[in-house]
Amino acid sequence: MSVAALLEGKRVCVCGGSGGVGKTTTSAAIALGMAAQGAKVAVVTIDPAKRLANALGLEELENEPRRVEPERLAPSGLEIRGELWAMMLDPKRTFDDLIERLAPTPQRAQEILGNRVYRELSTAVSGSQEFTAIAKLYDLDREGDFDLLVLDTPPSRNALDFLEAPGRLTSFLEGRALKAFLRPTGIGMRFLGRPAGVLLGGLRKITGVDLLADLSTFFQLLGGMTEDFSRRAAQVEKMLKSDSTAFLLITSAQQESIDEAIWFRRTLEKGDLPFAGVVVNRVHHDILGDGDEQQVGAELAGLLTPELATLVTQNFHDYHVLARRDEQNIARLEPELDGRPVLLVPHLDDDVHDIEGLLRIHRYLFASAEERAQMIAEVVA
Ligand SMILES: Nc1ncnc2c1ncn2[C@@H]1O[C@H](COP(=O)(O)OP(=O)(O)OP(=O)(O)O)[C@@H](O)[C@H]1O
Ligand SMILES: [Mg+2]
Repeated sequence: MSVAALLEGKRVCVCGGSGGVGKTTTSAAIALGMAAQGAKVAVVTIDPAKRLANALGLEELENEPRRVEPERLAPSGLEIRGELWAMMLDPKRTFDDLIERLAPTPQRAQEILGNRVYRELSTAVSGSQEFTAIAKLYDLDREGDFDLLVLDTPPSRNALDFLEAPGRLTSFLEGRALKAFLRPTGIGMRFLGRPAGVLLGGLRKITGVDLLADLSTFFQLLGGMTEDFSRRAAQVEKMLKSDSTAFLLITSAQQESIDEAIWFRRTLEKGDLPFAGVVVNRVHHDILGDGDEQQVGAELAGLLTPELATLVTQNFHDYHVLARRDEQNIARLEPELDGRPVLLVPHLDDDVHDIEGLLRIHRYLFASAEERAQMIAEVVA
């Protein structure tokens, strides 16, 4: 099955997966392919490699999608019937924009932006990228300027972070965690047997940080906005669970990545999130088949110097082992997917850092099953 068939009728495609498996590359290739087919598509990328960002004309962090000029795409030779738009997420700016929009007055917004708790929160490495990526997706979806939004997800080590971090941050903003801590029967009290204020006061003496004062100022400033955060969170959840959203899982064929993919898929199911399929990226295809390595060696010996022949044969051997391993891991994944498709993209010789590279990935994602088999046969040959 092709990605185009998977995304038929969808407005949002979320590409999740563990660190370094090819989420950014795949989301850009998907957006390119859907734009080629006539859709107006925006891809929201997170931390793309510099060369890829340059290839898409993304010179700096910007917080709105910008059209990738058709001339940039021309060398791909692909006819783009629709429009490709791209942006690089700026978490801090997205967060600031949100506060500015929700604050009752510009002055209140400025006070929040200057608050120390807010500054820490909005630049925290973990959580703020996930939270703002979803916030941006939600706003773009509501504005309705695009037929399809493709969301790359942050480079967290664990794919599940992406699902969990926004909720954690939202609960914090709703003040639930703090309220629970400060309640006379709250965790703070139960564990310490005395008011949390005393503990935090003690901390201030030691660290010089008046955490309690900072936190209570922060929540005073947020005031009624905590309810806006809750309301938005409910709407975001509705968008993510909607029939017009598709979660695509990107993974490598390595064991840990496949294990994580299986977990991710189960978690999506538990959370009622629409799982569409898996892309297994950087697959090693069997170039030897059941062929005899010795025979390959013997044939090469006639063509190359003995040292070179040994080296090449060894390389073949290594690749063969990798291919077998990939095949076994993928076989383990398939029964977990309830018939949802697995799309294989081979391990290419070069990194993917330009439009031509994206096009090579795109060919595999958008091919029919027969075309894909044909292309893999070409790689193997
Ligand atoms: N099929 C492929 N063949 C060869 N190289 C690839 C392939 N797919 C991706 N790459 C390369 O692998 C590297 C990681 O890819 P990418 O940045 O898309 O991963 P990511 O999942 O977004 O990583 P992170 O979790 O750090 O955000 C890049 O250098 C990219 O060019
Ligand atoms: Mg990435």
